[in-house]
Amino acid sequence: MKNKIKLGVNIDHAATLRQVRGGTTKYPDLLKLASLVLKSGGDQITIHLREDRRHIQDQDVKTLCNSLREKINLEMAYRSEMLLIALKYKPKWVCLVPENRKELTTEGGLDLFKLKNAKGFFLKLKNKKINISVFIEPDLNQIQQAFELGAQAVELHTGAWVLAAGSKKKKLWKDLEKSATRAHELGLYVHAGHGLDYEHSRVIKRLPYLREVNIGHSIICYSVFDGMKNVLKNFRKIFNSP
Ligand code: PXP
Repeated sequence: MKNKIKLGVNIDHAATLRQVRGGTTKYPDLLKLASLVLKSGGDQITIHLREDRRHIQDQDVKTLCNSLREKINLEMAYRSEMLLIALKYKPKWVCLVPENRKELTTEGGLDLFKLKNAKGFFLKLKNKKINISVFIEPDLNQIQQAFELGAQAVELHTGAWVLAAGSKKKKLWKDLEKSATRAHELGLYVHAGHGLDYEHSRVIKRLPYLREVNIGHSIICYSVFDGMKNVLKNFRKIFNSP
């Protein structure tokens, strides 16, 4: 039987909902949510501590790593500030991502050829037994560089493929297939993420050697629908009781 594909659930947008009121609401409680995710079919909790702290906060990293370290995948920029945080809280995985201050979400893969002193950076994480994944475009040069730098996994950016149509979409799928196969040949784990919804999840699961997906936005959006009935029942109970 084919190995089960790990489902990483990115809970950044639950933090967005909390932060949208300036952090004055205590809900949603991310630790409670993470526990629910792990009880409900999610295999891993993915969080992105951004430099601008727009959703996940330092305290969230601390709380989640202290309670669920083995299940945490911390997405972060290639910066010394983030390295120190990762070394302190020791998530199971770190996923290196590019970051621009004004972007609405991660806009593309990290260019591994632009990282300065990356081997030292990687070694510091590895010495603390933190596994490293790099979020990159499906590009064979980037895959080779991930291998040279000593990453354990590549997370292939699926966002452009999700948004594309027609022949562009077909070409991007081929790139994803080639990249996944090459990564596997080099002994790298194949992860994928960004923009995945139900429709594209049904396709991405056919990617050769796919070991893990990380999905955030669509899960939070679908949960609004699937959770509405229960929440309204709770409010009805409150207002119907004397
Ligand atoms: N993987 C990485 C590396 C990301 O940066 C993101 C977005 O934070 C995701 C996966 C999840 O993307 P989405 O929220 O579009 O499902």
